[in-house]
Amino acid sequence: MYTPQDERRLYEQAKQLLKDNFGKAADVVERLREGIVYADWKYYVQNEPTLSDAEYDALYKQLKDIEAAHPELVTADSPTQRVAQGLSERFPTVSHLVPMLSLDNTYNADDLTDWDRRCRELAGTDEIEYCVEPKYDGAGISLIYDDDKLARGATRGDGVMGEDVTVNIRQIKAIPLSATFARYGVKQVEIRGEIVIHKKVFDAYNKQRVGEGLSPLANPRNAASGTLRILDPSEVRKRGLNSLLYHISDYTLLPGASRPGELGTHYDALKWLYSMGFPTPAPDMTVFKHIDGVIKYCHEFEARRDDLPYEVDGLVIKVNDFAMQAQMGATSHHPRWAVAYKFKARQATSKLVDVEFQVGRTGAITPVAKIEPVHIGGVTVTSVSLFNEDVIREKDLKIGDTVLVERAGDVIPYIVKPMAELRDGSERDIKFPTHCPACQSQLERQPEEAAWRCINMNCPVQLVEHIIHYVSKDAMDIRGLGAANIQKFYDLDILKDVPGIYHIDWSKLKGLEGFGEKSMTNLKLAIEQSKKQPLNRLIFGLGIRFVGETTAKTLANATSDIREFYTWDADRFSTLEDIGPKVASSVVDFFAREENRAVIQKLDESGVNLLNEHKGESVADGVLAGKTFLFTGTLSQFKRSDAEKIVEDRGGSILGGVSAKLNYLVVGEEAGSKLEKAKKLGTVNILTEQGFLELVGS
Ligand code: IVH
Repeated sequence: MYTPQDERRLYEQAKQLLKDNFGKAADVVERLREGIVYADWKYYVQNEPTLSDAEYDALYKQLKDIEAAHPELVTADSPTQRVAQGLSERFPTVSHLVPMLSLDNTYNADDLTDWDRRCRELAGTDEIEYCVEPKYDGAGISLIYDDDKLARGATRGDGVMGEDVTVNIRQIKAIPLSATFARYGVKQVEIRGEIVIHKKVFDAYNKQRVGEGLSPLANPRNAASGTLRILDPSEVRKRGLNSLLYHISDYTLLPGASRPGELGTHYDALKWLYSMGFPTPAPDMTVFKHIDGVIKYCHEFEARRDDLPYEVDGLVIKVNDFAMQAQMGATSHHPRWAVAYKFKARQATSKLVDVEFQVGRTGAITPVAKIEPVHIGGVTVTSVSLFNEDVIREKDLKIGDTVLVERAGDVIPYIVKPMAELRDGSERDIKFPTHCPACQSQLERQPEEAAWRCINMNCPVQLVEHIIHYVSKDAMDIRGLGAANIQKFYDLDILKDVPGIYHIDWSKLKGLEGFGEKSMTNLKLAIEQSKKQPLNRLIFGLGIRFVGETTAKTLANATSDIREFYTWDADRFSTLEDIGPKVASSVVDFFAREENRAVIQKLDESGVNLLNEHKGESVADGVLAGKTFLFTGTLSQFKRSDAEKIVEDRGGSILGGVSAKLNYLVVGEEAGSKLEKAKKLGTVNILTEQGFLELVGS
């Protein structure tokens, strides 16, 4: 789609627009669109951002402003038209042009050898090329492009009929709204693929849900398919879905498909789509001439399945040649020319021994299932969150049940279901408490909420959790004051609330186990340094309901002094990016409360920074904007997760593997194949840990 010259031109054009302050309206519309489509492609398809968030937003805003002033310039494929207005009533049912079949499954080398034998019989030859690509664990979709425009996006449904979710598909920036098929004489084409959600996006989304007292979604697959069917497209846009497209329904439509050597294979077709800007598995496809190579690759790939940014539950092996595929045909359930190799399920059964009820920072009571230790995907699981009372009721769980436990990727383990057929009558109902397990006050539940809460402001567990949150790494980052110490200090009356951090009576710490001169000096220093933390960290640390790190940044960015918020009403908060009525009312509530204002005043008196001197500047625009990193080997100077956060905080991004898109590979000890590959590529900057620290200036 883009030649290197194109890329250079579009990049420079975007920068020039920004520099010229956009120039004259009608003249620049097309250039703005080109720039945004290009930036979306780099970000979502190539995983290699070029513009910073702030620059991207500036281009987008300018296009929107011009289109608002000149409605005659709006086109259906303008990037601004991804955003639909209002809610959908429901999604119309549509029939698929060609039924959407499923895949047959294999689980081991023998299954694959059998499948290969059947393929050779059906094809009438031993010379078969196989193309292997990841099997994405998402939601299947069908896209129709008519006259080069995205005309329809539909869910798989029952394979024959699906739901028309075009409005939501248009929110997915990886999916082009227009294409260049006509240039190749293709008028209509149906493309199939998967809607996926980045594991990191999924984790962040779940964290936010839990913070809001909602139960988290079980896995990225549920999140993707649930999101596709949300009636509010703007909510869909916020979830940041992505897509991988792996099938063209009618290959005979492709240019030169009948001529050997020209788009006659699955591999070439997906590469062609990729070159036109479509997200396909092209970078992760491999072709083999013999099933033995396929089998070896399947085993190797399974070992590094977690390296991909998306959840994969296997590989798909496809006969590469289209003519051969046609000859082999399909059953009513699956094509005979393709098969899934399924990775080992990360599921296991265990026994639900007990349920404990934990009090969180916001007073929400979380039931946690204690299960007999069980190994799933390399970790031992002994406790599993049950999230809230509704989950227990919906799943009909009982103490003593044999339960099916699943762990998808890095995702937290969860109970899929009880094995009701194994019950012997000795199982007991789970009784949800009526009183707080920590302070015995009566629990309350708001009608629209899933959580029971302890609303006692002096509940000791909540006070301790508040302090733990305030000092945490993403908030005020006071090292040396971990959860265990905070609990100890609380019990010994050394630390009772957040402002108390700045008035610790150090004499009481003398002789306390684990608190020698050195650790005390370090702690004092860390507390002192926290006073200078930027305002967004303080706002996050205050633990306002529904205010996560991102919202805290938005809030901080909108003020020069936190106390200005005392006079803001919900409408004013709602004008800020991504702050809806629920968050706005929670923030208003927080700042209206006398006890919270008292905390802020005490922090002020202790010298904690309440100001933001950089009001209005975007925090997303960091020094590593657009740069990509990967860490490999054993790191000794810092934790991988910390280093990744440093990169992301400065606008960079983390890639899942070594590729031409990678800018920096940071190597620890015993770095293996990734280092080799990076050296071979020759385009990657290889850094030691020290080199990395110097680069980021810390
Ligand atoms: S090919 C006729 N390729 O897995 C084409 N499917 O379990 C059949 N899936 O329904 C599909 N990744 O939703 C194909 N690389 C891939 C895939 C893939 C995920 C899904 C697809 C299918 C399901 C079957």
